[in-house]
Amino acid sequence: MRLLIKNIKTLVQAESSPRHMVRGSDMKTLRVIDNAFLLIEGERIADFGPMAEAPEWADTVIDASGKMVFPCWCDSHTHLVYAASREKEFVDRIKGLSYEEIAKRGGGILNSAKVLQEAPEEVLLESAYQRLGEIKDFGTGAVEIKSGYGLTYESEMKMLRVIKKLKSISPLTIKATFLGAHAIPLEYKDNREGYIDIIINKMLPTVAEEDLAEYCDVFCDRGFYTPEETDRILKAAEKYGLKPKIHGNELANSGGVQVALDNCALSVDHLEAIGDEEIEALKKNDTIMPCIMPSVAFFLNMEYSPARKLLDAGIPISLASDYNPGSTPSGKMSFVISLACLKLKMLPEEAINAATINGAYGMDLSQELGSIAKGKTANVFITRKIPSLAYIPYAFGGDHIETVIIKGQIQ
Ligand code: NIG
Ligand code: FE
Repeated sequence: MRLLIKNIKTLVQAESSPRHMVRGSDMKTLRVIDNAFLLIEGERIADFGPMAEAPEWADTVIDASGKMVFPCWCDSHTHLVYAASREKEFVDRIKGLSYEEIAKRGGGILNSAKVLQEAPEEVLLESAYQRLGEIKDFGTGAVEIKSGYGLTYESEMKMLRVIKKLKSISPLTIKATFLGAHAIPLEYKDNREGYIDIIINKMLPTVAEEDLAEYCDVFCDRGFYTPEETDRILKAAEKYGLKPKIHGNELANSGGVQVALDNCALSVDHLEAIGDEEIEALKKNDTIMPCIMPSVAFFLNMEYSPARKLLDAGIPISLASDYNPGSTPSGKMSFVISLACLKLKMLPEEAINAATINGAYGMDLSQELGSIAKGKTANVFITRKIPSLAYIPYAFGGDHIETVIIKGQIQ
């Protein structure tokens, strides 16, 4: 099956020599081809280039005159398996309560855990599958999903089994992360060690035995897990082959960056509260991917991450949605890109690099996805007729995508 997209106004992120990530000032450049073609054979990208070199025939031909073609977004941080939305807390915050105050009263993550513990697996599966359909229509082709709303052995495993099932029924590429250490359950408030013991000695062995996750995450932040606890959990997970991807420095300069670096984490995510010392430390490392999620600061009315400082220091950045019921009930990556431009002062090119190839790196998928390159999986979207690449973040909230193709299939 040959699918030819011809007369593409601009083919975005087209690489003849693919990179596994883009860092610092290189993020300002996006490789593009104007008046281009893209040929897909089966699930893969077979060829691309200027229209003058387009092949003569294909089984299906799409004329993309006036339209652009992008690699699908790679959203490397979400919590999209959950049992219920939390708009009551949204209203409480409008009235003046803070995210941390709500969490202390048993709201927040603990609230989500309570409802998830009671939800049947099929119900969770169905709602998460719908959310995957929604983000697919928004142009996302690969996504990482975390557990962390279970907070008991049974419910954490239930969440991870739902994610495993999603992998087999969704066309999207999915990576699973075990986040048993998302919060301390209320009943362990005075016995943190008791819960950490369950994570290490009960949950992790089952996660490994049933092959339920690729990564292990810990919410290393003020009021949640300390760097020392985080380190212990990550080291235990490593023994089972789970790589760290951690939540750090969201609510406070919590030591999350240091613990991520010490444990060779694939990514360190959030970084709203990061200082110069952490930026210096990240500068010296060339494997970790800092992941910024500006829709969290937008939704919680917090300080935005100083992403510009990171980029100017030569550090790479990925952008993700953090889609979850508490701090970002939206998985729309084009809005994340708009916020990155408007609030983090990222150029459209930087934001698009961050949401494609660097997001793929944050899921160990950059050999496979995140750019238009020969042999990569054909996950691309075709825009509506748009005047320029910068129009996507500029016309924020808009519906700019006309056709989504996942693994070579028109959706
Ligand atoms: O990434 N920061 C921790 N976890 C989620 C929020 C979870 C929630 O409030 O339900 C986040 O923002
Ligand atoms: Fe998160």
